[in-house]
Amino acid sequence: MEQVAAYLDWNDSIKALNTAYESGLFVLIIGPKGTGKTSLVRDFAKSKNVNLESINFSLRTRESHLIGTKTLNEGTVSFDEGLLTRSMREGSMLYLDEINAAEADVLLRLDEALDDRRQITLKESTGEVVKAREDWFVVATINPLTHSGTKELPPQLLSRFPVRIRLEYPPEGTELEIVRRHVSGQESEIIQAIKLANTLRQAAAVEELFYSPSLRETIAFGKLLEEGMCAREAAMFVFGNVYTQWGSVEYQKVSDIITSMFGN
Ligand SMILES: Nc1ncnc2c1ncn2[C@@H]1O[C@H](COP(=O)(O)OP(=O)(O)OP(=O)(O)O)[C@@H](O)[C@H]1O
Ligand SMILES: [Mg+2]
Repeated sequence: MEQVAAYLDWNDSIKALNTAYESGLFVLIIGPKGTGKTSLVRDFAKSKNVNLESINFSLRTRESHLIGTKTLNEGTVSFDEGLLTRSMREGSMLYLDEINAAEADVLLRLDEALDDRRQITLKESTGEVVKAREDWFVVATINPLTHSGTKELPPQLLSRFPVRIRLEYPPEGTELEIVRRHVSGQESEIIQAIKLANTLRQAAAVEELFYSPSLRETIAFGKLLEEGMCAREAAMFVFGNVYTQWGSVEYQKVSDIITSMFGN
């Protein structure tokens, strides 16, 4: 199994999470894909020594995933509690990933649990009211609206998360430090790859390109080098080839940038 690299808290997000946690305020993390949102929350839960319950929202996520489902077992009906119900009862940390991908009915149910009373009525079961434990803590993430498939989070749900942390791409030096937590060696080539990634990110930000590489890519590049691949080839595999998806003009543009940075 892959060893998990230690999280580098480069913009004091852990401190902000800690303060929110101590004040019982829920947190929203906003940032593009692959900027360390999930790693940050995992690291924080570990530091608090609490159990982390995670759900990744999509259009297929149903209320029952959150609340629970009735099951029939040898003639008796019982209720299998969902993630939300369980975490409220146990006072664990709840991680709602990409919450803006959820359907309206799911969001409505979440809203019920997240308001100031912090309770839900199990109307699909006995009608019991489940009140969250005092230490229940919730962190949600959303991707910026530019990402395809994302919707705007309704304002009243947004207001349930009054502490908002921005997690953007780190400065180049910081990114290098992060990549070095995952791979060793080849520093000068990794610096080049981070420069390349930032060039592509800037082009994507002004919609000159369709795709913005994340930290996942710069780490992957380092891993290929570690296995002995040459830098140019690794750059094509990790950064270049993906643009074929948007046609040969887009691909050629990036391919030329890679050649100018890594040679032929
Ligand atoms: N500050 C950091 N310290 C150490 N590793 C990091 C850091 N930030 C990102 N990474 C690494 O970058 C990769 C992507 O991070 P992660 O999955 O946490 O991002 P994410 O924002 O949750 O992505 P997505 O939006 O796609 O879910 C992981 O391999 C993670 O370990
Ligand atoms: Mg994530």
